[in-house]
Order: sequence, then C-alpha cells, then structure tokens
Amino acid sequence: MSEVRVASTSEISLTDPIRVEVDGVPVSLVRDSAGEIHALGDTCTHGEISLSEGFIEGDSLECWAHGSRFNMFTGKPENLPAFEPVPVFPVRVDGDDVMIDVHNPIDVSGDAARKEVS
Ligand code: FES
Repeated sequence: MSEVRVASTSEISLTDPIRVEVDGVPVSLVRDSAGEIHALGDTCTHGEISLSEGFIEGDSLECWAHGSRFNMFTGKPENLPAFEPVPVFPVRVDGDDVMIDVHNPIDVSGDAARKEVS
C-alpha cells in the first residue's frame, strides 16, 4: 500500500471534478450522487483528454470531447465512442484527508465490482 494524501474532503464538490497527479499518474477526484469520493484515471481512453475537465452526471464522469461517460465505481464507459475503461484507485478518507493509492488499482472485473450502473 502506498497511499498518498491528495486533497481535503472540502475540496471535492458534488459538481466539479478536480485533477491531481501522483507519481506521474493523472487522477480525477469526484463525488458520486451519494457523496462518496472516487478516484479515476484522468485520461479518457478515447483520446488524450483530461476527464476532470468534463462533467459529473450522476455516478458518471463525462468526457467533454465526445460524450463518453465513465462509471465512477468501475471506470467502464457507459457509451461510445470510448470502449476501454479507465483505472479506478482505492480511496480512503481519514478525517479531512483524502488518501489514494495509484499503484494498486481496484479490480473491478466480475464480483469485485462494487457497483455498476447500466
Ligand atoms: S476523447 Fe473522450 S470521448 Fe472522445
């Protein structure tokens, strides 16, 4: 485990993703519709677009360029043109500190997926 503090909880709103970088890995920090914080790979798999420049739509993060929405829980795109997922990183909130681990992405395949919106 190589957790790093990347933000305070108050910096992450329900409406605007924020971008952080850990060991050269760009990450989008977002909140889902229930307020839970998620950390996703920030680079859209359809192009070199920063997803943190996009929009939060419910439990998805939408790329502004062509509209693919990436599920916050699984990283999987819910619509074309993107068809490859972005990585999802573990998040731990410790008081006001948001900790993530970019070196151990969550395995969201099969039963390991915490939630998937269809
Ligand atoms: S670059 Fe993101 S959907 Fe095309």
